[in-house]
Amino acid sequence: MGISVIVLAAGKGKRMRSSVPKILHPILGQPIISYVLESIKRISPQRIVLVLGHGSNEVKKSLNYEQIDSVIQKEQLGTGHAVYSTRRKLRSFNGNIVIVNGDSPLISPGTLKKLIGSHERTRSVLSILTADTRDTHGYGRVMRNGTGHVVRIIEEKDANANQRRINEINSGVYCVESGFLWKALSQVDRKNDQKEFYLTDIVEIASKEGKNVNVFVSKDSEEILGINNRVDLSRVEEIIRRRINDKHMISGVTIVKPGQTYISPQAYISSDTIIFPNSFIYGNTKIGAGCMIGPLVWIKDSKIGKNTSINFSSYITNADIGNKVTIGPFANIRPDSIILEGVRVGNFVEVKKSRIGRLSKVPHLSYIGDSEIGERVNIGAGTITCNYDGISKHETIIEDDVFIGSDTKLVAPVKIGRGASTGAGSTITKDVDDGALAIERTKQVTIRNWKRKRRKKKGK
Ligand code: UD1
Ligand code: CA
Repeated sequence: MGISVIVLAAGKGKRMRSSVPKILHPILGQPIISYVLESIKRISPQRIVLVLGHGSNEVKKSLNYEQIDSVIQKEQLGTGHAVYSTRRKLRSFNGNIVIVNGDSPLISPGTLKKLIGSHERTRSVLSILTADTRDTHGYGRVMRNGTGHVVRIIEEKDANANQRRINEINSGVYCVESGFLWKALSQVDRKNDQKEFYLTDIVEIASKEGKNVNVFVSKDSEEILGINNRVDLSRVEEIIRRRINDKHMISGVTIVKPGQTYISPQAYISSDTIIFPNSFIYGNTKIGAGCMIGPLVWIKDSKIGKNTSINFSSYITNADIGNKVTIGPFANIRPDSIILEGVRVGNFVEVKKSRIGRLSKVPHLSYIGDSEIGERVNIGAGTITCNYDGISKHETIIEDDVFIGSDTKLVAPVKIGRGASTGAGSTITKDVDDGALAIERTKQVTIRNWKRKRRKKKGK
C-alpha cells in the first residue's frame, strides 16, 4: 500500500520574530523546509501535500518542487485544522498518511521508514514517533496508562506540574490510517489553553475507541528537534553542519576546523582537498580532488577542477574554474566566468562574465568584464576592461600570447590580435593587429632643475 505525506507549514513562527516565514529561514543556504522535503522524497510517497499559510507565495516561489501539492490554510487554527484542510486533496487516497512538521528538518528517511514499518506490522490505526529526552521544553508529553499504553498527548501549556515532568515527548511525526484520520479529526474541538484544534487529540480519540495506538520511540532525540526560535535554528544548523562535515571527512576531505566550515547539503567535494577555516561552500558547488580552499573563502554554485587553490578571502559565485588554477587572495569571480586550466588570477582582481584561456595570468589589481581572453596571455597590473559606456556592455577580445602592459585601459568593444602588446598606461580604443605594439601615451617632458627653480620662486 502506498504512503502519502502531509507537511505542516502554515504557521507564522511567531517565536522567530521575523518577517520571513519560519520554514524559509536558511540553514547552510537552504530553507528549513527543503531538508524536510529531501527526507520525505527518499521514502517515495505517492503524494505530498504541503499545508501553507503565512507567506505561501514566497514559500512556493522558493521551492521548485512541481510534484508537490499544497493547500492554503487561511487561518491557523491549529495542527488538527491544518491536517483537516488537506482532506479534499487526499479524498481519493486510501492508505497510510505520514504527517510531519515543516519546522523539524533533522528527521531522517530511515526513521520515517521505521515508523511506517512498525505501523504496518502492528496493524495500528495510529503510530506516533516519540523520544525520551531531558530537554522537554515546548513539546507535547506522551501520557501512558498503567499497562504502558499511550492514552493521550498533553501540550505543555495544558499540562500540570506532574505531567510536565514526563520525559517522553511527541515529535510531531505520525503515521495514520486515512479513514481513521478524517473521522477522528471531525471530532476534535478547541477546548484547550490555546483554543486550537490539536492534531494530538486524535491520540485520545483512538485510545478511547479501544484502537491500538502504536508508539515508535526514536533512539536519536536530536532528530526530532523542532525549530521554534532562533536559538533552535542555530542549534539545528550546528547539527546539520556537523553531519555534512563528518560525511566529507569520512570520504577523504580534510577540514581543518569543522566547527568553522560551512558546506551546503548538495555540495560535492573530492578527496584530498583541504578546506581551511571560515570557508563557505554553498549551493550546488562541485570541487575536484587535491584542492586548497580558504581560509575565509565563499564559493557558491560553482565548479572547481582538480589541484586548484582558492586563496584567502576570495569570493566565487556561479563560475566554472578548471584544474591547477590559482585564485586570490582577495579575488572576486562573478557569475558566468570560465577560467581554464593553469590560469592565475591574483590579488584584488575582479572577473565577470569572461573566459580566460589556459595558462593566462591576471596577477594583480584588474577588472576583467565581458571578455574573451586566449591562452598564455599576460595581463599587467591595474588593467581595466572598460566594458560599460553608461548604456550597454561591450566585449573585449584578447587573443593568444598577448602581452597587456600594466595600467592599460581597454575601451570595449576592442580586439587585441594574437601576439600583440600594449604599452603600460595606454588607453586602447582601436583594435590592435596581430603581433603589433599599441602605445597611447603623451610624450614625457622632463624639466631640468625643477626643484631649485621652485625654491627660488618662493624666495628661499
Ligand atoms: C506540536 C505538537 C506537539 C509536539 C511538537 C513537536 C500539536 C498540538 N502539538 O507543537 O505535541 O511536541 O509539535 O515539534 O500538534 N501549523 C500549521 N497550521 C496551524 C498550526 C501549526 O500548519 O494552524 C504547523 C506549523 O507551521 C508547524 C507545525 O504545524 O510547522 C507545528 O506547529 P507548532 O505551532 O510549531 O506546534 P508546537 O507547539 O511545536
Ligand atoms: Ca514546533
